[in-house]
Amino acid sequence: MTTIVSGSASQTLAAALARELEKPLATVEYDRFPDGELLAGVPDFDDDRAIVVASTVSSDAHLELLQLQDAVREAGAEEVVTVLPYMGYGRQDAAFEAGHPVSARAVARAVSTGTDRVLTVNPHEKAVCEFFEPTATPVDAAGRLAEPLPADLEDPVFLSPDAGAIDLAETVRDAYGDGETDYFEKTRHSGTEVEITPSDVDVAGRDVVVTDDIIATGSTMSEAVGVLRNRGVGRVFVTCVHPLLARNAVTKLSRAGVEAIYGTDTIERGASAVSVAPALAAEL
Ligand code: R5P
Repeated sequence: MTTIVSGSASQTLAAALARELEKPLATVEYDRFPDGELLAGVPDFDDDRAIVVASTVSSDAHLELLQLQDAVREAGAEEVVTVLPYMGYGRQDAAFEAGHPVSARAVARAVSTGTDRVLTVNPHEKAVCEFFEPTATPVDAAGRLAEPLPADLEDPVFLSPDAGAIDLAETVRDAYGDGETDYFEKTRHSGTEVEITPSDVDVAGRDVVVTDDIIATGSTMSEAVGVLRNRGVGRVFVTCVHPLLARNAVTKLSRAGVEAIYGTDTIERGASAVSVAPALAAEL
């Protein structure tokens, strides 16, 4: 028998996955000691297989995942499957300066110690899966981002704000069933400053869907939307798999004039319009 165990940041998705797989959800209990240390436990867990679902959206969420993996083993689980809907630190997949860590590898190694298998949704680079010790499988859920889009998009263009995300834009276009695809080029100057070099795609009067894997500060998307606005675009929808939406990202995008922001539930936000549960269930 299998029980689903949810990290505190992934409760909606874990519940959707439990419904999809028709498996029970464990009760997770929490404590915090006077020195600030966390404790996440599964007092009633009594099964031989656990699926731990935890987006590592913060350092505490990372720690909580390690504790939940250990707690289910301690309670007798023979197989532990770890689902990282959003893998935190995944974008730090190289040492970008001398003396810097490969943070994605460091966290993957830690997660690997407590699991027999890993699934992660649309990692920034699929190559991060190689950092895990057991088999790690990337799950592509981008196609679902077409679902909330209006059916009456005007001569749509599905655009990625940089070359790395063109596959996602193509997946969303294919799922929508109609439209052109294109991409801009991006140069990142700092954590919050990016420069967009547009292509010569004609967007005047057309509706544009801009797709990326992650919206973090919203800098990439708002710059891309600014370029589109200057070119007389129709409506602009922004979609992403992981709606991190840190700091003032939603305000930035609203001020840039986007019609709507659609993301998945890998990160639970107001913009989480579609669930990746069916895509995960298909791999479990
Ligand atoms: C980076 O290459 C990613 O694909 C995203 O474009 C990036 O993480 C978005 O970050 P932000 O919203 O802070 O510009």
